[in-house]
Parts: sequence; structure tokens; C-alpha cells
Amino acid sequence: MFNILRTAHVEFRVTDLDASKRFYVDALGFIIIHEEKDRLYLGCYEERDLYSLVLRKTEKPGLGHLAFKVESESDLDAIAKVAQEDGLKHKWMNKGEKLGMGRTLAMQDPHGIPLHFFYEVERREWLLQRYDLYRGARIQRIDHYNCQVPDCRRAYEWYTKRMGFHGSEYTAANDVPKIPGELSAKNPAHAWKVIETDDLWATWLHRKPNVHDIAMMNGIGPRLHHVGWWAYDRLSILDACDMLASVGMVDSIERGPGRHGLSNAFFLYLRDPDKNRIEIYCGDYLLTDWDMPPVRWSINDKRRATFWGHLPPKSWFEEASLVEDITTGDLLSTSDPKFFGKPSFVI
Ligand SMILES: [Fe+2]
Repeated sequence: MFNILRTAHVEFRVTDLDASKRFYVDALGFIIIHEEKDRLYLGCYEERDLYSLVLRKTEKPGLGHLAFKVESESDLDAIAKVAQEDGLKHKWMNKGEKLGMGRTLAMQDPHGIPLHFFYEVERREWLLQRYDLYRGARIQRIDHYNCQVPDCRRAYEWYTKRMGFHGSEYTAANDVPKIPGELSAKNPAHAWKVIETDDLWATWLHRKPNVHDIAMMNGIGPRLHHVGWWAYDRLSILDACDMLASVGMVDSIERGPGRHGLSNAFFLYLRDPDKNRIEIYCGDYLLTDWDMPPVRWSINDKRRATFWGHLPPKSWFEEASLVEDITTGDLLSTSDPKFFGKPSFVI
């Protein structure tokens, strides 16, 4: 019915634009696209949209919205129809109301995550081969969003059945599948049945052909856990650690560098001056075949969170950003997650 193409840009609420600029621009190498009194628009080298990160000055930090690009103008109307049918809060923004964007649909997903959808977008000069401009962590492009919601199964059902996303990988809170049979690449039909009966702890969902555009994890929510940007290589990620330490921002390094078992990504998690969390990562994989069932991980598999077995810090489990109501601009209240037994550790 419609085609969501990809992750496009995020708006973070921040309390101090100068402090944010020192972190994102001076230390990490994001490019300044446009500056206003209360907003800073930033981008990266490989991107062609005008920007991928908006920093908006507010009194309380958090998430403004997560934006997706769609294939055609009529896709926006089709998504609005879903919002209407599912009783979700939504509104239209006129062309130009957002810098560089055409008509935009703003809506709250079933858990309250604020989403924007647009088709028309202003482009800018492609900087992929302007190696003379490469700085900082040499971050190339925005890649994905990761959210916490109280009911991961509900999110999986909505994003796959109503919005056309495909699951690439998932975490089951039950160690052993509830239906008998061996999980094998040679028997995809069985894997599709297993995910239908598993207690979903987390699910990775994609539209573009890599591991994810949006991930949903069971947790206090709705909250934004992090936004992921794709780096040139593993060395860029290691260099980011050296640079942050050199300029006195060592406290912004929260987790990593390391490799995830789930997604195979090489990762580094950072907290910006307002504690919004970003991930710089590389090394996931091509995923084009939508008949491929999602890869199943047990929540107690030590290699899942970090392939080398290290546990994430407590803050990584417990802290996340509140999200904004698309009509009032207030931060939404949260609910506790569904609880599936007592895993030895969770991601
Ligand atoms: Fe991520």
C-alpha cells in the first residue's frame, strides 16, 4: 500500500546548543548545514538529504521525532489512513514548515513514539568524495533508531503488519522455543512459526536492505534508547574514542567499542551533553530477501549483546530519552514493560 524507504533524520531536544555543538561538530565531525537561534541542523558526508540531525533548544532534553523518507507523495496519504484507522494521533505539516522538507505527516505510533514521514526533500552537495573535509569520527550517514516500549510484541505486530517492516533479528525471552522442531536455515517455515509464539524481548526491523531502520526493545516506554550513525570503518570508531578522551569528553563514552552478536555490528555508544544516546557503528550486513525469517537469539545467550561476552553498563539498561507529544510538545509519561520471567541479563 505504501513504501517507506529508509531512516532519514532525528530531532533531539537539547538544553545548551553550544555544548551540543562542541560534542557533535568539534569532537565527532558532524557538518553544520544551517544554524538558527534555537536550532542547529547537522549532516554527514555520504548523506544527500539536507540534514540528518536537528538539535532543538528546549528546557528539557529528549526526542523531538524520528523521520522516515517514503517513495512517493501518495504514500503519505496511505500512511495517514493507517493512523486514522488505528486511532493514532497525527497531523499534517505544510511544505516548508520544516526546513528543506515537503508536506510532512507527523504521528505517534501505538506506544507514542513520535514519527515523521516525508517524500519531498531538499538535497545538498554530495560530500562522499570530499576526503579533504573528513574530520572527527568520519561518520558517513544516519542508519537506525532504537526505542524502548512496554510491549515489544505489540510493536512488532504493528510495524510488520501495518507499516510493512520486515524483521531481521530478534531476542526471545524464552530460552527454548515453545514449539518442537529444529531451527535450521533449511526450514524457514518453522522459524516463522517459532517467532509467532516466542515472548519477544526485542526486535530489529528494516525497510532499507540492512539489519534495521528501527529496533524495539522491551522496557520502560515510550522512550528513545539511541540513534545509530554508520561510520567509515572500525578505525574511525577507535579514533572517536581517542578524540573524545583527548578533548576532555571521556565521560561521554558509555559502552564499547565492541561487537554485537545480534546484527554483527561493531559499536560505540556515546551520551551527548544532554544524555541523549547515539551509537557509531559499522559492520552489519546486506539483507534483501524478505522471505528470510528473522534470526532468533535467546536472551541468555552471552554472545548476543556483545559477541565477546562483556556486559553493558547499568546505565545502558536503565537510561533512555523521553519522547515528545506531536501536538502539545510535552514529554510523554511512560509505562513499565511486560515482564517475561527473570533473564540472567538483558540487552
Ligand atoms: Fe543501534
